[in-house]
Amino acid sequence: MGKPVYILALESSCDDTAAAVLKNSTILSNVIAGQKVHEAFGGVVPELASRAHQQNIVPVVQQALSKACISLENLNAIAFTKGPGLLGSLLVGMSFAKSLSMALNIPLIEVNHLQAHILAHFIDDETKTKPDFPFLALTVSGGHTQIVRVDDFFDMTVIGETTDDAVGEAFDKTAKLLNLPYPGGPMIDQLAQSGNPLAYRFTKPKMEGYNFSFSGIKTGIMNFLNNQKVSNPKFIQENISDICASVQHTLVDILLEKLTLAIQETGIKNVAIGGGVSANSELRKRIGGLEHALDCKTFIPKFEYTTDNAAMIGIVGYHKYLNCDFTDEFTTSKSRYTF
Ligand code: KG4
Ligand code: ZN
Repeated sequence: MGKPVYILALESSCDDTAAAVLKNSTILSNVIAGQKVHEAFGGVVPELASRAHQQNIVPVVQQALSKACISLENLNAIAFTKGPGLLGSLLVGMSFAKSLSMALNIPLIEVNHLQAHILAHFIDDETKTKPDFPFLALTVSGGHTQIVRVDDFFDMTVIGETTDDAVGEAFDKTAKLLNLPYPGGPMIDQLAQSGNPLAYRFTKPKMEGYNFSFSGIKTGIMNFLNNQKVSNPKFIQENISDICASVQHTLVDILLEKLTLAIQETGIKNVAIGGGVSANSELRKRIGGLEHALDCKTFIPKFEYTTDNAAMIGIVGYHKYLNCDFTDEFTTSKSRYTF
């Protein structure tokens, strides 16, 4: 065995300021500071997010280093999220990473946030097996909904994606209509536990190939609620669990119909999910059901690696380190960033 590689990873693409320290593929620390400041607005306010990152980044990095019992001199490289995400938020993490790598004279590694959601499955964990290549990844978050064919660590092809809203947005916007706090996904999931998923039906979009659309269903839900409220102003309060369960069921149906098609048509039998919405309990349960129905192997991330975190940035950083895939001080953040 060679000398271990220690990587400090930073994630600041949206409203979480996160830092992690890895020893090879093992997580030594994984610290996340959320931003309560957005709750009052029912969604992320970009300007406030950048400011909160500025306030949080130094203490978050300090905590990550101290929890890992690592000092700056031990680090071999710094990895950061280049994009996609909110530009002002990304700039904070990138500038910090650049400065630190220059001060310590160690390599700087740029990471694609979406690749990180997928490669989070390669973090060492004795309770989990890692997917074999090739595999299909369903990446579902507040900003993205994609089906990706993954042939190797850095050989990924998007074969389907949303043409409008992300599925996480559909959860969050529905929650807003139901007067639930932001982010709405976890709340809808929780309320759905005691509801009937077949209580109400919502029309599912018809999309080409493996593509998705979630803007129509959001309008459908809004019209449905408005109609119901005409005859019963307390409709939402009285039926909140059934509404949440039915919306969640429809959204998961849409995801699984396309994923099923992709598995059948590509013949790829390894399937992984990732991103914030992969924390959803119904999605996790029903993905497991595909194993039997389609004779495939499914990979579900640990909860802490579903929503945004820096451990997933670190695992990509580690594999790029092994490939000597470094960047320099002229790199810039990218709000739109494909692989
Ligand atoms: O990956 P993530 O933290 O940030 C982005 O890259 O967008 O995903 C956040 C999204 C939010 O839309 C949030 O509502 C959703 O993930 N989410 C959930 C659950 N937990 C988080 N959606 C449904 N059920 C959940 N349990
Ligand atoms: Zn994300």
